[in-house]
Amino acid sequence: MTTTDPEHRTVIEPFKVKVMEPLPFRSRPERERVLETAGWNLFLVPAREVTFDFLTDSGTTAMSAAQWAAMMVADESYAGSRSFERFEAVVHELTGFPHVIPTHQGRAAERLVFSTLVKAGDVVPSNNHFDTTRANLEHLGATALDLVIPEGRDPRSLHPFKGNIDLARLEACCREHAGRIPLGMITITNNTGGGQPVSLANLRGAAAIYRSHGIPFVIDACRFAENAWFIKVREPGQLERTPRQIAREVFDLADAALMSGKKDGMSNIGGFIATRRSEWMPALRSLLILTEGFPTYGGLAARDLEALAVGLEEGLDERYLEYRVAVSRYMADGLVRRGMPVMQPPGGHAVYLDAREFLPHLSPAQLPAQALACELYLALGVRGCEIGSVMFGKTGPDGQLVPAALELVRLAFPRRVYTQAHCDYILEGIEGVVARKDALRGMRIVEEPPFLRHFTARFAPL
Ligand code: F0G
Repeated sequence: MTTTDPEHRTVIEPFKVKVMEPLPFRSRPERERVLETAGWNLFLVPAREVTFDFLTDSGTTAMSAAQWAAMMVADESYAGSRSFERFEAVVHELTGFPHVIPTHQGRAAERLVFSTLVKAGDVVPSNNHFDTTRANLEHLGATALDLVIPEGRDPRSLHPFKGNIDLARLEACCREHAGRIPLGMITITNNTGGGQPVSLANLRGAAAIYRSHGIPFVIDACRFAENAWFIKVREPGQLERTPRQIAREVFDLADAALMSGKKDGMSNIGGFIATRRSEWMPALRSLLILTEGFPTYGGLAARDLEALAVGLEEGLDERYLEYRVAVSRYMADGLVRRGMPVMQPPGGHAVYLDAREFLPHLSPAQLPAQALACELYLALGVRGCEIGSVMFGKTGPDGQLVPAALELVRLAFPRRVYTQAHCDYILEGIEGVVARKDALRGMRIVEEPPFLRHFTARFAPL
């Protein structure tokens, strides 16, 4: 990774540590007992048993001294709080959208927008819907359509913008389902497809298609700053622009953004809806008051609004973004050098291990990504997240598994939490996992709920 600093080759953590938290260490036999009790589901493992928690980059950010300081001066008034004014001004300045509704997290923003605009039988296209987005749409009886470009489904493709939506398929979809598409989406970066960025050219193209069909364009903007960084460094003609300028152009293309502040908002909780559609506001506000809270706090404490207001600015800092993207690149290169295949190029917030390629002796029905995720925990105390047939596969009417397109294990990196020495320690340990790979056994599902089964299902080794 090259740096913007001509004197150095190493990208360093652009911060120093003020408050530290000890890492829990456990032996392999201790972890075996933990995993057995948790039904071989890493979501059910207590965090105190995890040494390196890469389950998610969501809400796990280390906040800055400036964020903690802002929280102390928050105005916790029920209505019209000063903290809301500050938060609203930051979101307004960042996105250009005149209307800002705080929500307790991203999926609350999804639920509010979808339940006021989407009805049963509707179709909502995107590059890839994240699991909560899809579940919220399906819960309303709508169809969530994934139209990512073919390269986005190929773990080996080196396409620089694998999150792009297939514009030809989008155009065809808009024609085929005319009158049944209440809104169209794009997720930046594309989490489900590997944390892959979407290019400015593709966003412009999608916006033009949605506009020509009179379909409102809604951006799932969780990782808008990382996406802006990728545009800056990968898209011709963008290098001289700041991430803020690029992000602003992206928001200018859309009618609304749904945001989980737990990612590029650099906060532990919070989110928002921002939109230029004044006509959506009465219904959104009413539902917000009914289920989240008054429009100037939306289910958050004012101190959370303060943390977000500061975090949204910090997340656009160039030194920070350069370091942020270097983390996943460093881990991906180190893993590949040691014989662990990863989805290329690595995304902004995570590295996705390709379990299908790593464990060719396991069929999709033997849940290779779940098996690999469990082994990483047993061997290293690393908690990753299965993104394969457990999360996206379906059980068909005959009881057989309809597998997901990819069998991935996501290692998502919390922001500003782990250091390069932690990465090196994990990479050393990966060598042992690679040496034992032929002995890894598959998994089967023992118990599963009807929705979002990966959170609570129980498994057993084969
Ligand atoms: N959209 C995307 C692209 C996401 O990645 C997430 C959350 C959400 C929406 C929902 O936001 O959690 O604040 O309600 N992703 C987390 C993850 C959970 O681990 O990737 P939320």
